[in-house]
Amino acid sequence: MTDADSGSVEAVAAPARPLLNLPGLQIRLRPFRPEEVETAWQGLAQQDEAAHPRRRPEDRRAQPSEQFRRQLHRSGRMWRGRLDLAIDRDGRLVGIIQARTRPAQTLPVGVYEIGVILYQPRDRGKGYGAEAVELLTTWLFERAKAERVQAGTDVGNRAMRAVLARLGFQLEGILRGYGAMSDGTRSDGAMYAVLKTEWDGPDHRPAASDRR
Ligand SMILES: CC(C)(COP(=O)(O)OP(=O)(O)OC[C@H]1O[C@@H](n2cnc3c(N)ncnc32)[C@H](O)[C@@H]1OP(=O)(O)O)[C@@H](O)C(=O)NCCC(=O)NCCS
Repeated sequence: MTDADSGSVEAVAAPARPLLNLPGLQIRLRPFRPEEVETAWQGLAQQDEAAHPRRRPEDRRAQPSEQFRRQLHRSGRMWRGRLDLAIDRDGRLVGIIQARTRPAQTLPVGVYEIGVILYQPRDRGKGYGAEAVELLTTWLFERAKAERVQAGTDVGNRAMRAVLARLGFQLEGILRGYGAMSDGTRSDGAMYAVLKTEWDGPDHRPAASDRR
């Protein structure tokens, strides 16, 4: 990713370090700010188990782990196959969206997996999650050489499944026992994906003039 890649990539933290900033109609995807680490950690802690299973004891601490701090410090750019972005609504942090690929997050070449969480129930059901998925998926296809973007979610997660279906992701199958819960139980997952050849269309791109 370089400055030359796109006008939507800009230096936020330091001129030498281009960071992603993707404006949408309702929300903006941007790097996390240092002062947002606590909020982001607490936001994830409030998620229900199916949406955000926490298998490791360090992920259940009241305070952010060092790994989490480092993860957010690296947000805004792809780092070892992982890209984290804050979901911003009028300057307020409302959630996180993530893309994972190879090499460290092992997947075949050109395949990305995304995950999204809006921290507070009051921010859900307003289209923010769908717009975040749309913005990131478009960027992955247009700027990150993605050929396939996939997302797995709990079979019972009707909101996430509705978002993916509405954006044109196809349900490819039910993954039995896919989700690992903190108490050792498993839950079934629903795998959705969209290919680059299916995504190319004006419906998936906010018009430049509409962007904030
Ligand atoms: C899943 C999530 C990202 C969706 O984002 P969102 O901004 O709430 O979604 P949208 O407002 O764009 O659309 C939600 C859709 O689900 C529907 N929906 C919302 N909550 C619902 C619920 N509890 N039950 C059923 N449908 C629901 C909405 O009506 C809408 O359907 P439509 O497209 O037919 O109108 C968000 O709700 C969230 O963060 N949930 C908690 C974390 C989570 O589950 N993350 C996904 C883990 S893989």
